[in-house]
Amino acid sequence: MSDEQLIVLTVALGEEIKKLLADSLSRVQVKEIPMDMDEVLKEQSEAPCLVISGPATPSFPANELAQSLRMQYPETAIFLVWDKREGFERKTFIKNGFSDAFLMPMDITNLRTSVADALAQASKGKLRSYRPVKIIDLEPGQELDFETSIFLPANNRYVKLSNPGDALDEFRVERIKQSKFSNIQVPADQIKQFYAYSAKRLHTLGNSDSLSATEKKERLSGAVRDLIGGLFSDQAASFETGASIMKDCGEIVKSYIIQGAENDWYSRIQTLLGERGDGYSHSANVSTLAALFSMGLGIGKPEELALAGLLHDIGIAELPAEIQVLDPEQMSKEQLETYKKHPEISVELIKSRKIVVPEIVTKAILQHHELYNGTGYPNGFFGDRICKEAQVLALADAFDYLTRLKEGQPLMTPHQAVSHLRSLQVSDPSNIRYNPELLKQLLQLFPEPSAAGNVHPPQS
Ligand SMILES: [Fe+2]
Repeated sequence: MSDEQLIVLTVALGEEIKKLLADSLSRVQVKEIPMDMDEVLKEQSEAPCLVISGPATPSFPANELAQSLRMQYPETAIFLVWDKREGFERKTFIKNGFSDAFLMPMDITNLRTSVADALAQASKGKLRSYRPVKIIDLEPGQELDFETSIFLPANNRYVKLSNPGDALDEFRVERIKQSKFSNIQVPADQIKQFYAYSAKRLHTLGNSDSLSATEKKERLSGAVRDLIGGLFSDQAASFETGASIMKDCGEIVKSYIIQGAENDWYSRIQTLLGERGDGYSHSANVSTLAALFSMGLGIGKPEELALAGLLHDIGIAELPAEIQVLDPEQMSKEQLETYKKHPEISVELIKSRKIVVPEIVTKAILQHHELYNGTGYPNGFFGDRICKEAQVLALADAFDYLTRLKEGQPLMTPHQAVSHLRSLQVSDPSNIRYNPELLKQLLQLFPEPSAAGNVHPPQS
């Protein structure tokens, strides 16, 4: 099958969304139809490999839309793209027949990945899409029935490591583990083979009920996505809904973040490196890092820091869409002023949804952009006026930003990330953004890259 024959059907997609998806759909034939029941039912052309629908309208509600499309295309992936928070009920949409539903702009990374995966599947791997797999999930010397590659962000290039049927030898796996790479890349159309492989491996290792690090990470991101989506549901806030959100947070913190972390401290940190930073994985990472830093530094309670990490940026979802898609460096002065309101909005949102969290969690969220020299926001607090928990959260936030995957830039090791933060302040004493003592302690927890293989978790 040549690429040109792949047809993607779009139903009333807005111009903005079309622009955001232009690259993802550049190698397929796109067929647009308007949002009209008759048009949808009449559409009889060759079956598309993917359907992407814009938000439903009052005359064509989401559930009817889902059912009509599903009847027409029983086997095809059908995505719903929703552009406003009102009425966005992801679980209901999926129950009614959509394969997935994406809330813009928060879900843009997920949407692009899902589109790429669907096209890779339909083209039987001709259109390539890769999924990150945690390197610690691979056993050196074992034959793998899927291809592996590594992504070099500095050159924006994938380099093949092994073909299906090859094994990655011990030396190579150790080299990769000790370098900055926490992920290797598996083609999306071979990801099922990886899951089968990792299930079998865990079973052989006698961990029949535990999950691979890759799946843990995926479930954590999925749970954070559900959690944040659920915060904006139309349901009126009551103490019951607040308690149920809090229960979900507690489950996430316990199952994916705290469990086993003391015994596995450094390798947990390592598995967080080199992620593509969308809003959900950022919240998931900061939550995990804040809990791990809390353990390593002996500051605060890891559970509370994990909770603060999960919720610290939820206020960003309340900002205008055009601000949400920008990095702070790309914002105009006015946009930046609006962006700086997000810590307060996060706290207001927690209160308005009647989520009862410990006071220190609220404080840490409110202060996560305060800086040690008093130049942060919202209050410009100086030094230890900023609570210790917020100082840890700010470090976790900065660490995730530095170690995430950025095209055109090499990855950083944990040691490099913390040294970088530290050297900025040593070379410019007028700009002390983080507590120097905490940075020093944190640096002691991270070995020099050359000694990374011989690290033991800190005794706390
Ligand atoms: Fe923030």
